[in-house]
Amino acid sequence: MTKNRPLRALITGATGFVGSRLAQRLVRQDWEVHVIVRPTSKLEQLDSIKDRIKIYEHDGSTEHLENIVAAAKPEIVFHLASLFLAQHHAKDIVPLIQSNVQFGTQLVEAMVKNGVYRLVNTGTSWQHHENQDYSPVCLYAATKQAFEALLQFYLETTALKVVTLKLFDTYGPDDPRPKLFRLLKATAEQQEPLAMSPGEQLIDLVYIDDVIEAYLVAAERLQAGLVYAHESYIVSSGQPISLKELVRTYEQVIGKELPIQWGGRPYRPREVMVPWNKGDKLPGWEPRVALSEGIKRMEK
Ligand SMILES: NC(=O)c1ccc[n+]([C@@H]2O[C@H](COP(=O)([O-])OP(=O)(O)OC[C@H]3O[C@@H](n4cnc5c(N)ncnc54)[C@H](OP(=O)(O)O)[C@@H]3O)[C@@H](O)[C@H]2O)c1
Repeated sequence: MTKNRPLRALITGATGFVGSRLAQRLVRQDWEVHVIVRPTSKLEQLDSIKDRIKIYEHDGSTEHLENIVAAAKPEIVFHLASLFLAQHHAKDIVPLIQSNVQFGTQLVEAMVKNGVYRLVNTGTSWQHHENQDYSPVCLYAATKQAFEALLQFYLETTALKVVTLKLFDTYGPDDPRPKLFRLLKATAEQQEPLAMSPGEQLIDLVYIDDVIEAYLVAAERLQAGLVYAHESYIVSSGQPISLKELVRTYEQVIGKELPIQWGGRPYRPREVMVPWNKGDKLPGWEPRVALSEGIKRMEK
């Protein structure tokens, strides 16, 4: 991104996988980076940059968020905070709505109160089960949609401009989340049989550096005044592959076969067999890191 002076960013979800990589990247590009965390947040993912960013511990109130936004004076807010649950139980309802609906709404309220009108929001391809305009794969995806519905009020009544990036699957080195590649790595090391679904579902994986680039391109659109109200874009590889094919690619890159028991467990309820493929591409962005290259970088 070209700029003459440091830009100020406020990031939510900065202790997470994507948010921490975004914060690191912005620091490397000399942005002034402010992040919002919770009293319970673990800050390890921010260790490498903690002396170069400003960290605000949010007490949960809207008033405190207003003070945080006032202190940070961001030109762009990157909203990545979210509770992800593929399936939920009754006890998850309140935290899901708190993290994915309430917190975001408090944030936007605090932004507009402070005259901050540029937001990069984070959605998910799971808002589009079976390629529908809206069909949530799970309650988590429904909360993402609910937040977008709430945004509409602010879009119609204030100068707020939003770019929502809809992420697919992301992967990269040192991913702390218990995701597929960690499972594959453990299976490769221990050679213990791993029961998986039949493996025909297609997966759309984007390497973390490419994901972060999409946030920068979205911010640049907002900065350049190109966003009229709310734009929504996919951050997709455009090349979904089956889980089986993905494991084959992994085996080729690491040079080892994995003892996978295909069909050893059923597909999940509402398993995404074919990822959404109707969203608009973010102008000026395309993924650069091919899957085999991304796996190599992860395995270093
Ligand atoms: N990664 C993917 O493959 C993928 C795919 C589709 C969409 N997304 C979306 O992309 C974004 C980033 O994903 P990720 O994988 O990086 O997430 P992640 O690693 O699970 O991190 C979630 C972040 O959200 C923060 N958070 C949750 N609830 C909060 C609250 N109430 N107040 C403040 N902070 C809160 C967490 O803070 P604590 O440290 O306090 O827990 C953490 O920093 C999310 O919006 C996610 O839904 C990700």
